[in-house]
Amino acid sequence: MAALEKMFNVKGKSVIVTGGASGLGLAYAEIMAEHGARVCLFDIDTDGMNRVVADMAQKGWDVWGQTVDVGDRPAMAAAFDAVAAKHGRIDTVFANAGIDPGPGFNTPTGERNPDGAIENIPDEQWDRGIEINLTSVYVTVKNAVRHMKPAGGGEIIVTSSIAALINESIVGTSYMPAKAAVNHFVRHMAMELGAYGIRVNAILPGPFITNIAGGRLRNKADRAAFESQSLIGRIGDVEDIKGLALLLASPAGAYFTGSLIVIDGGSLTRMT
Ligand SMILES: NC(=O)c1ccc[n+]([C@@H]2O[C@H](COP(=O)([O-])OP(=O)(O)OC[C@H]3O[C@@H](n4cnc5c(N)ncnc54)[C@H](O)[C@@H]3O)[C@@H](O)[C@H]2O)c1
Repeated sequence: MAALEKMFNVKGKSVIVTGGASGLGLAYAEIMAEHGARVCLFDIDTDGMNRVVADMAQKGWDVWGQTVDVGDRPAMAAAFDAVAAKHGRIDTVFANAGIDPGPGFNTPTGERNPDGAIENIPDEQWDRGIEINLTSVYVTVKNAVRHMKPAGGGEIIVTSSIAALINESIVGTSYMPAKAAVNHFVRHMAMELGAYGIRVNAILPGPFITNIAGGRLRNKADRAAFESQSLIGRIGDVEDIKGLALLLASPAGAYFTGSLIVIDGGSLTRMT
């Protein structure tokens, strides 16, 4: 095997991607499967998941899916066990599923949005935001470690956000504290799990065109608001995330753990 191929080798790895049917999760699944990993998607969108699994299978890639709500703890435990039973082990887990929990307190054009004002946020909306964007990461890591520790190691890659480091007024309020807590949790897990050969890192994307928040980054006003933050004049395409995902999941990333890696076209640099 050529040196470069060896460095980024993920062939045969057993991989789970939560929220793998769309956006960044799908990009993680594609780059891993394209390079010979065996990938299982967990997603609540069964139809969308079946479509992307069929597309990838057509390319000869080893991909399957399980319908799982990452907020459902017994279902998550069973889904992890099913992957371990099918693949014999679990090597790499992308804790990626996430949602925009609701409108922010500003519109993309800078007006106040009463639906996002703190006094109007429905408690269920706050709770669901924390459950999916924060608690599900804990549940995912817990189940991953249950399988990785006895096997002697693995990699966990969590999708956080630059919203962990700055405040976005057009994003639902619970998103920022959830992602900030995710960052801290990732570093805490890296401390606990390094001794067991388990590396834990976070990817902090800036704006990427995906289906989050109803795919609103495809709308002109939302897109312009985010584009104006980039130092290279554009927002992210899901293809842009693939190199970083492969790096963190492969031998090339062996010395990364507890890292919070920003990938945002320079947005954070402009804003801070
Ligand atoms: N797109 C961006 O600009 C951006 C920026 C920073 C961080 N992120 C983060 O990236 C991650 C992926 O988001 P995306 O932008 O690719 O969005 P997306 O909506 O395109 O994909 C998210 C996927 O997660 C699935 N999902 C949602 N809730 C779920 C649940 N309860 N259980 C299982 N699956 C569920 C959806 O069905 C979908 O397939 C999220 O954690 C998000 O917070 C996105």
